[in-house]
Amino acid sequence: MKKPKTRYVCRNCGYTTSKWMGQCPDCQEWNSLLEEQVDVRRPSGNFKKAESFTLDQISNIEYERSPVGVEEFDRVLGGGLVPGEIVLLSGEPGIGKSTLLLQIASSFSAAGHKVIYISAEESLGQQRMRAQRLGIRSNEHLVFVSETNLQSIIGYLHEQAADLVILDSVQAVYDPALTSSPGTVSQVRETAYRLTEFGKRKQAAVILVGHVTKQGISAGPKTLEHMVDCVLSFEGDRHHQFRMIRPVKNRFGSTQEIGLFEMKEGGLDQISDPSGYLLSERPEDASGSVISVINEGTRAILVEIQALVIPTKYGIPKRLSIGYDLQRVFMLISVLEKQGGFLLSNEDIFINVIGGIKVRETSLDLAISAAMISSFRNKRLNPGAVVLGEVGLTGEVRSIIRMEQRLIQAEKLGFSKFFIPGANVDSLKGKRNVIKIKRVKDLIEGI
Ligand code: TYD
Ligand code: MG
Repeated sequence: MKKPKTRYVCRNCGYTTSKWMGQCPDCQEWNSLLEEQVDVRRPSGNFKKAESFTLDQISNIEYERSPVGVEEFDRVLGGGLVPGEIVLLSGEPGIGKSTLLLQIASSFSAAGHKVIYISAEESLGQQRMRAQRLGIRSNEHLVFVSETNLQSIIGYLHEQAADLVILDSVQAVYDPALTSSPGTVSQVRETAYRLTEFGKRKQAAVILVGHVTKQGISAGPKTLEHMVDCVLSFEGDRHHQFRMIRPVKNRFGSTQEIGLFEMKEGGLDQISDPSGYLLSERPEDASGSVISVINEGTRAILVEIQALVIPTKYGIPKRLSIGYDLQRVFMLISVLEKQGGFLLSNEDIFINVIGGIKVRETSLDLAISAAMISSFRNKRLNPGAVVLGEVGLTGEVRSIIRMEQRLIQAEKLGFSKFFIPGANVDSLKGKRNVIKIKRVKDLIEGI
């Protein structure tokens, strides 16, 4: 028998090398190369030759989707699960992955689909307790398996006909044939590979749970992204109730849609009116509060932005941003200083997008600038106003996509005054109270 070889695998990006290095040459992370033993496998020699086809020779397939019954989850999938689809659900520990999946397992099985929930982290008793808390009752189509040995799991699965297999989590399972411990890159990869193979062969959908840490680094999930069909990131602040599912990759649907939930005593509730939810506690008479609209897939969602600008008491001014890129906030501050003559270098500045929502588009630039101006001047903005637009380095305000849709949504919630980029105004259809903002200066004078 051949002796196992030693190799080093980066726990961050999966880079593999035969010699140890202090820094990963691929992702530049320090001290991330972990030693692993690899068993050398011999190819069997019986290969089937590959074949090629023209587009016409390939039959036209329509994906047959089965909705899981949790609408916000179906939305991010693209309408439901496709047989044989492999989904990776990643998120920080404690964010609510097991809760969500148990709710999905319950609703999917209630519709007559066979669901196998493999609980590798928690005992069956813990699953039962969670089910009680969520008000989920036993049904013949939903079974639980408590197992961490990959071979036992695969052995069991191959004797079953399942529509959905949930593995919670991919980091807790180990293959005894490998010498490395659970959670290492090779174990996580092997587990994902074997479940993928099972899912594709038996046409069962598989949801793999993967933990990631705050920095998005973990041994595993990142290195699995290319293997699976769909990667869903479950985000939110553990101390906040708001949760969001964002597709990072989706071979069977769009990556634009997001799913919104609220973590409650009795489990995750879907948020069907996100704007109403996010604006529910808005102070209408306070300075520093501004409303804007973000665009998420087919939905436009109203968000409240708050800024607090106060003189610095000790030393270096503090700058903090929750929910918006801090580097962008730095840029917006500089633009306000240069274009508006504001002296902000002796002010602490705090920005918060209310609700724990993390915004990745740049369309909030102008609203954040407006919130800072409002707080700095201690003057509230018209409570019926909405501010939209991207800000450039020279202080120009740039147009943003889907303006009409955003304004329609804002109007539905009673907003009637719109500060929007000049370039967006001409393409608007309806007649509205619109204030054209071409430069940040116009905003400073206009609000
Ligand atoms: P969990 O689903 O176990 O998180 P993960 O699988 O991502 O690690 O849930 C984590 C938290 O959710 C837990 O601290 C308690 C809270 N929770 C609720 O608030 N309501 C509930 O109904 C349940 C089941 C959990
Ligand atoms: Mg869990």
